[in-house]
Order: sequence, then structure tokens, then C-alpha cells
Amino acid sequence: MERTLILLKPDAVQRRLAGDLIAKFERKGLRLAGLKLIHASKSLAEKHYEVHKERPFYGSLISFLTSGPTVAMVLEGREAVTVARNLIGATDGVKAAPGTIRGDYAISVQNNLVHGSDSAENAAKEIALWFQEAELVTFTPIDTPWVAGG
Ligand code: RTP
Ligand code: MG
Repeated sequence: MERTLILLKPDAVQRRLAGDLIAKFERKGLRLAGLKLIHASKSLAEKHYEVHKERPFYGSLISFLTSGPTVAMVLEGREAVTVARNLIGATDGVKAAPGTIRGDYAISVQNNLVHGSDSAENAAKEIALWFQEAELVTFTPIDTPWVAGG
């Protein structure tokens, strides 16, 4: 079983899409292991996107992520990282395939609504950045054999 960190970035919260987007991940079969609304500090945003610190869009990206509240989630399930990235779609909303979150809701490169960890290793680091261990809850939903069996 794998975990991933999902952020519904400030544009998703401002556009009141949080509920719709959480529902998409739940419907696919991933389960919530952590959930909170948080206005990211500059330091948290900088650590989260540290890998991009030399990129020309870094300053704008940090301003965006600190511009308002974010819904931070930990989702669990079989191949959760890949499942979530496939649901989210390509970075640029213009290029993201219809049916994906960005393909259906975004037309911007930066304001693309959702972040999803890109590997299990990075997921572990990002989860530790956004959540304390005590905020995470692991449980086995009773429909697990129906959702993840076979
Ligand atoms: P994320 O990390 O947020 O899940 O997105 P991603 O893997 O699809 O894309 P990544 O290359 O990691 O970029 C991180 C975020 O930076 C913004 N971005 N802006 N202006 C630009 O050219 C540009 N490129 C990327 C997006 O908000 C992207 O999600
Ligand atoms: Mg990324």
C-alpha cells in the first residue's frame, strides 16, 4: 500500500472546487489518511518546491502557493502515486487530457489546481513537510476487497 501527498492549491480553494476534487480521488478508490486546510508559509512553500528553485517561474510559484489557503491531503491505496498523477494530468492545463483534473478544469500552466507527489520517495518527504505523524490515520475501509481486490 502506498501514500501520496495531494495539494488542492489556492486556485482550487478560491474557485470552490475542493469538494469536487476530493470526490474524484475518493471515487477512484484512494482513501483519505490526512486532510486539512492550511495557508502555507513562505518557508513551507519554498521547501515543498525546492527542486524548482533555479527555475525562472520559482518566485511566481511561491507567491501563488502562499496566496491563500491550500487543502493538503494524504491519500493511500494501491500505487497511489501513479493513480493520483494519472488523475491529475499533464502540468499545462492546455495540454492535459480531457477527463483529467487539469484537462477538465485548468487552462493555465501555473494555476493548475492540484499537486501530486511524483514518486513514493518524494511522497514520504512531502508528507513529513505538511503533516505531523499524529495527524495521519490509517484504516481499512470495509469495501477494500471490492475496490482493490483481484
Ligand atoms: P506538481 O509538482 O505541482 O504536482 O506539478 P507537476 O509535477 O505537474 O509540475 P512541476 O514541473 O513539478 O512544476 C511544479 C509547479 O510549478 C508550476 N509551473 N509553472 N510557468 C511555468 O512554466 C511553470 N511550470 C510549472 C505549476 O504550478 C506546476 O504544477
Ligand atoms: Mg512536480
